[in-house]
Amino acid sequence: MHMMKAIVQSGYGGPEVLSLREMPIPEPQAGELLVKVSAIALNYANKLLREGVFPAPSPLPAIMLAEVEGIVVSAGSGVEGFQPGQRVTGVSMQGFAEYAILHTSQAFLLPDGFPAGQGMLSGGITAHHLLAQAPGGISSVLITGAAGVIGSFAIQLARLQDIRVIGAVTGSSDKSAYVKKLGATVAVSRNEEDWLLQLGAAAPEGYALLLDAGGGPAASQLLPLLAHGGTAVLYGNMSGKPVEADGNLMAFRSLRIVGASVFAANPADKLRWHDEMVQAVQTGSLEVPVNAFALEDFGDAFAALESRQIQGKIILQTA
Ligand SMILES: NC(=O)c1ccc[n+]([C@@H]2O[C@H](COP(=O)([O-])OP(=O)(O)OC[C@H]3O[C@@H](n4cnc5c(N)ncnc54)[C@H](OP(=O)(O)O)[C@@H]3O)[C@@H](O)[C@H]2O)c1
Repeated sequence: MHMMKAIVQSGYGGPEVLSLREMPIPEPQAGELLVKVSAIALNYANKLLREGVFPAPSPLPAIMLAEVEGIVVSAGSGVEGFQPGQRVTGVSMQGFAEYAILHTSQAFLLPDGFPAGQGMLSGGITAHHLLAQAPGGISSVLITGAAGVIGSFAIQLARLQDIRVIGAVTGSSDKSAYVKKLGATVAVSRNEEDWLLQLGAAAPEGYALLLDAGGGPAASQLLPLLAHGGTAVLYGNMSGKPVEADGNLMAFRSLRIVGASVFAANPADKLRWHDEMVQAVQTGSLEVPVNAFALEDFGDAFAALESRQIQGKIILQTA
């Protein structure tokens, strides 16, 4: 039996529930691809999976779900449109390993020569979906957690969509400098005393859209910055605290608070967004910096994710 290195989750909790093990290389079934993985994205969802906030898709112990990038090794029966040797990306139900199974319904092709580590674009697909939540065209957007994966994509995609005012909220001045480079019109750290005033001054008529996955008081304070008819999109709750809304403000301004999950996005839209982002990466108009760790150093990678110091993405490299 051919073996591979994999990160196996044996329960729910801290890093101690994960271990690096030798596991059999899986066989692709009907409609599936076996992929030799070159890079794995460590997304915030992996922390939530590890903690059990999101239940594991396979009975534990199991290799953890992950977004991967790699090369097709072989295909199961009935597979069309994919060939061995092609570069692909997508979310594998057991992706934290040197080899992973990708169902073709979850797989996206990447061109040869595409920059290594830039192929994992699920954060960009989510950012596209979030930006599409406001009715009609928008001229301004306010993005919290802006130096993270979704934030880094959302700022650049907003810029590519010619959204005039892009407000970014971060947790440090270093991160604010980083998101300014990505294209934010105004970038403020919550540590600055006048952070709300600065954001308000950049969009005196108010923001058409707020994207937030932090929740809690920090998000609640941003609702008054929305324009008449504005939309707040809540797409996660990293602080674990609720967003509080003043009913009078909601009524007078005709505001909307909506939730959005990328799982509800139309598959045809996702494919189009993926292809557009591939082109944007190739032309140099989209790039999310990667912080790379070796697969064996997954514990350090999780610690970095949880430190809130990271700008851009964290990836694990298999070789
Ligand atoms: N709805 C969907 O379809 C969907 C899809 C993918 C991901 N998500 C969610 O989107 C969120 C962001 O994902 P990501 O990959 O962008 O994460 P990320 O890169 O790890 O972090 C984004 C930013 O969130 C802030 N943050 C981190 N921990 C926090 C905490 N405990 N409380 C408040 N803010 C915190 C940090 O910004 P500062 O410290 O600078 O504020 C960080 O830079 C997660 O909740 C994830 O589950 C939702």
